[in-house]
Formats: sequence, C-alpha cells, structure tokens
Amino acid sequence: MANRRTVIAGNWKMNFTPAQATAFIEEIKPMVAGKDNCDIIFCAPYVTIDAAQKAAAGSNIKIGAENVHFAKSGAYTGEVSAEMLRAIGVEYVIIGHSERRQYFGETDATVNARTKAALEAGMKVILCLGEVKEERLSGITREVVSMQTKLDLAGVSAEQMANVIIAYEPVWAIGTGLTATPEQADETCGQIREVLAEIYGAEVAEATTIQYGGSMNDKNAAELLAKQHVDGGLIGGASLVAAKFTAIVDAAQ
Ligand code: PGA
Repeated sequence: MANRRTVIAGNWKMNFTPAQATAFIEEIKPMVAGKDNCDIIFCAPYVTIDAAQKAAAGSNIKIGAENVHFAKSGAYTGEVSAEMLRAIGVEYVIIGHSERRQYFGETDATVNARTKAALEAGMKVILCLGEVKEERLSGITREVVSMQTKLDLAGVSAEQMANVIIAYEPVWAIGTGLTATPEQADETCGQIREVLAEIYGAEVAEATTIQYGGSMNDKNAAELLAKQHVDGGLIGGASLVAAKFTAIVDAAQ
C-alpha cells in the first residue's frame, strides 16, 4: 500500500450529551492508548465538543465537528463558522454527509463552499460522498462519485488536498446494517482515486486517505480495511460503543 495515513473516525451524529461524551471518552481512552498505526477522531455535536476535548486531552484521540458553514460570519441562524471551530481548537470537520444532503438540502455547491471555507481556515476536512441505491442498481456509481468528487473539490488546490480525507459512503449502507462488500468498497474507493489522479495527478491521488463508511463494524472492519484503496473508516453506529469502535481500531493496526 502507498504511504497513506489510515484514519478511523467516529461520527456521533445527534448522540451524546456532554456528560455522556465525557464518560465515553474516559472509557475508550485506555482501550485505544498506544494504537498509533491510525489516526483516531470522534466528530461530535457542537455542544458536546468541549467536554469531549477535555476528556481526550493528552490522549491519541482527536475531536472534530460534524459540519461547518461556508460564510465567515453573518446572518446564518443556527450555523457555526470555521473560525469559531478553530477558536476552540477543532481541527477536523465532516462535510457533505449524506444525512446533510438528504435532510438539510445540502448540494454539491454548498458542500464545495463549506469545504473551501474550512480549508481556508486551516481545518482538515472529511468530505463525504457516495451513491444512493437506485444509482448503484442502475450501474452509474462510478459516474456519480466522479461527479461528486469533481464538484465538491472544485477550486481546492493540490496543496490543500493534504488536508482532505474523502469518506466514500454508499447511502444505502448508512445505518442500514447493509455493508458494501470489501470488493465494492475497494472498487469505488479506487474509482475516486482515479478521479483524484485526473484532477491533481498521481502523487496527490496516492497520498489521499479514502475511508469507507456505511455500517462498518467490529465484524466487517478487518476485511474492508485490508483492501488496497480503503484507508480507514467513517463509523456511525459502532462509534457509540467503545468495544466495537476499539475492535475497528485494532483491525487497522
Ligand atoms: P453507520 O454510519 O456506520 O451507522 O452506517 C456511517 C456514517 O453515517 O458515517
């Protein structure tokens, strides 16, 4: 495998109060201590970030956010800017999650704007993309992820790609218990890498971490992570259970 960093990231979604986040991080901290063959990140709801950061201080766990707005400031009720996240020491942010696209009207244009704003503020982005079931069944997965990759990264420079992680998340596999087969995950992550090579050249494409996400768990992680183009995981449900998440970290060692 190329010299790519493996990244195992949890996406807590709308789960955990600050007290629950503290308890969870305290529980998992010793379980993942010293497991340095991958980066370990938990992306938390905004109000939970502070508690999670305090609990994770001094450990190998990093705390990220689940979204960020594209404007620097202004009349955007309910939104949070990259500058605000940086001010509280948040480095990582998920952008373009399919739940944002499905339920909150995010488009490739807003995903692109958020990505550029986060990168310009010096953040690291976990950019999510992936096909819906009908697209896979119609045999257009490659076209869909290719288009999303190009649109979501429009205007992002080759240098900025050092701060971009891509999470390939087939929408039909998220929270459904249906996982892409290791072969499907590898094939589509490989297709995304080809698109990156087209845009940025082979060196950037080979250096970019591409995660798989969608019902990754303690049982299927090893097989998925063994694949050439799968450089980690973005984990929802299993990131709320310390033993399951730790087993995924172990599978990445
Ligand atoms: P899941 O979620 O692991 O619960 O399928 C993955 C994600 O939404 O990132």
